Amino acid sequence: MAATSATTFSVGSTTSRCKGSSISQSKAFGVKFNSKNNLTSFNGLKVATNLSCESESSFLGKDSVAVLKQSITSKAQKENKGYGNYVQPQASYKVAILGASGGIGQPLALLVKMSPLVSELNLYDIANVKGVAADLSHCNTPSQVSDFTGASELANCLKGVNVVVIPAGVPRKPGMTRDDLFNINANIVKTLVEAVADNCPDAFIHIISNPVNSTVPIAAEVLKRKGVYDPKKLFGVTTLDVVRANTFVAHKKNLRLIDVDVPVVGGHAGITILPLLSKTKPSTTFTDEEVQELTVRIQNAGTEVVEAKAGAGSATLSMAYAAARFVESSLRALDGDSDVYECAFVQSDLSELPFFASRIKIGKDGVEALIPSDLQGLTEYEQKALDALKPELKASIEKGIGFVQKKAVAA
Ligand SMILES: NC(=O)c1ccc[n+]([C@@H]2O[C@H](COP(=O)([O-])OP(=O)(O)OC[C@H]3O[C@@H](n4cnc5c(N)ncnc54)[C@H](O)[C@@H]3O)[C@@H](O)[C@H]2O)c1
Repeated sequence: MAATSATTFSVGSTTSRCKGSSISQSKAFGVKFNSKNNLTSFNGLKVATNLSCESESSFLGKDSVAVLKQSITSKAQKENKGYGNYVQPQASYKVAILGASGGIGQPLALLVKMSPLVSELNLYDIANVKGVAADLSHCNTPSQVSDFTGASELANCLKGVNVVVIPAGVPRKPGMTRDDLFNINANIVKTLVEAVADNCPDAFIHIISNPVNSTVPIAAEVLKRKGVYDPKKLFGVTTLDVVRANTFVAHKKNLRLIDVDVPVVGGHAGITILPLLSKTKPSTTFTDEEVQELTVRIQNAGTEVVEAKAGAGSATLSMAYAAARFVESSLRALDGDSDVYECAFVQSDLSELPFFASRIKIGKDGVEALIPSDLQGLTEYEQKALDALKPELKASIEKGIGFVQKKAVAA
């Protein structure tokens, strides 16, 4: 693919400051060579860009690399900016994926392998991870890939890790709710987070395994019992809800995908997923019918995929893309970028619930700030939906906490 000054292609997210706003806006993954701010922000897309510029044998191909290099150089010269730094890969962080040979784990591992910020990529699963790691290790990006199979190798997988991503567990089949997964996934998440607590208690923990509304409180409870709970470092990954909202709104309103940002708050299941369409950037008006249709579609988008896959699982590729965006954002924050914003399900005091998804600012030490402004000035529709989701979300949170407490009593 030839990259020209008007080409957009990406796997990463950018976060850029909005004009006239104190809050940055998460944008769809993308490096845009026709945009003023893109070369000054870091993202997974740039991963490819950075690496390609250094290697003639890049997967982008020799010709593309030359065009890309030329494009970056002339852009830098035109704007008199020191983009020299941006063509250096920076590989320094260690990421572990637990559940790495699954439907989400494999494409996620591929996307993380493309990050210039990752020096070591540890893949763990109870089965089939050797082949995935061997395959991935042939990609000529800097990170070192290692495989770990089964409980006896879990501790080694986690030692010294900066970001742990957990997509381990069973996915939904048609007719199932996320809560139907509780019995199996609750135990898996509990066991894995116990190992994280023992081996890399300072790591950022990204929980993907459903039901996220319960598995995040489970993880928090496990970490508390181990005496290592840092609420700033535990994240329920809800990025896919934002990715879907951005995509559906852009299509509906004929907006450029790269420009659209819709905050999604609440939780990550059914009606607890609340897209705040009134806060869409760029400012967009919706009819009541459009609000209803888009909200319901965003809430049921996971089920749309489960039904289309007809028994073969739930969202994996879009989820891997969303999870890779969240990993990249976390790594940028760890690496000192002070302008990283994402939505995530975290410990929160923005509502009366102990955990709540909202836009957050991520820094070197994890959640640096919860952003309350999206929740101010809601429409009547959004306020009603927010009130309606709270009992279900509260019950899911309590179910997670109760699960760990019961296990402790039984033990
Ligand atoms: N947060 C979200 O937005 C979101 C979106 C889609 C799916 N999910 C959830 O992600 C999870 C994974 O989905 P998937 O499609 O990849 O499923 P999958 O069945 O394809 O893969 C799951 C992987 O987990 C592994 N695994 C099972 N038990 C394990 C254990 N104890 N330790 C380590 N690995 C273990 C399996 O071997 C398998 O490789 C599901 O719970 C699904 O509901 C979350």
